[in-house]
Amino acid sequence: MNKKATIISFEGPEGSGKTTVIEAVRKYFKKRRLNAAIFREPGSTAIGEEIRQVILNTSHQKMDVYTELLLYLACRTQLIREKIQPLLSKKGFIILDRFTDSTIVYQGLAGGLPAKWVMKAVKEFSLGITPDMTFLLDVDERLGLRRSRRKDRMEQKSLSFHRKVRQGYLKLARTFPGRIKVIEDKEINRVIKSVLNHLEQKCLR
Ligand SMILES: Nc1ncnc2c1ncn2[C@@H]1O[C@H](COP(=O)(O)OP(=O)(O)OP(=O)(O)O)[C@@H](O)[C@H]1O
Ligand SMILES: [Mg+2]
Repeated sequence: MNKKATIISFEGPEGSGKTTVIEAVRKYFKKRRLNAAIFREPGSTAIGEEIRQVILNTSHQKMDVYTELLLYLACRTQLIREKIQPLLSKKGFIILDRFTDSTIVYQGLAGGLPAKWVMKAVKEFSLGITPDMTFLLDVDERLGLRRSRRKDRMEQKSLSFHRKVRQGYLKLARTFPGRIKVIEDKEINRVIKSVLNHLEQKCLR
C-alpha cells in the first residue's frame, strides 16, 4: 500500500499538555485547510472507549500489568484496523494523543515488563505502523500530576512510577532522536509555538 498520510503522535507524562497542544494543532490545520484526523488512546472507537473505562476505572486496583498491556493493545488494534488503516492511503495528517511509545513506557520501562519484549508485542499489534513524527512533551512528574485534575487509575499510581515514566520517555527519545522531538516544559503558548514551528519545518514545507 502506498502510504500518503503523515502520522504524528503526542506523548508525555500526565498533565504534560498533550490534549491542550493537540487542540491548538487542530485549529492550526483547520485554518490552513489541511486534513487532520485526531484520535486518543486508549479509545476513539466504540469498542476502545469501553475498554478505556475498564483500564482507567479506579476500582480495578488488582489489574495485572499483563492485563493492562493486552487491553491497551486490544484498543490500539481496533483503532488501527477500524480508523487509521483506511486513512493511510489518503493525503493528510493522523494525530494521535498517545500511541505506541506510551505502551513501551507505561507497561515496559515504568511498568516492569521487559521493554524489548513489549516493543516486539507493540510492533506485532500495530501492523508495522510507526509515527512519522513524535512530540514528547516533557514535564516534571510532580508538576504534571498537579495539573491533571481527574485522577484515573493510571494517574493514581505512585510518584516513583511517574518518575520512571518521565525517565522512560527521555530514554526512548535518546534511542529514536530522528523521530522523537522533545519539547521542554514552559508556558503553554510557548510549548504550542515550539510544536507548530517544528511541524512547519518538518512536514508542512
Ligand atoms: N505548559 C503548561 N503550563 C501550564 N499549564 C499547562 C501546561 N500544559 C498543560 N497545562 C494545563 O494542565 C492541564 C492538563 O493539560 P492536558 O490535559 O493538555 O495534559 P495531558 O498531557 O493531555 O494530560 P493527560 O495525560 O492526563 O491526558 C490543563 O488544565 C492544561 O491547561
Ligand atoms: Mg490528555
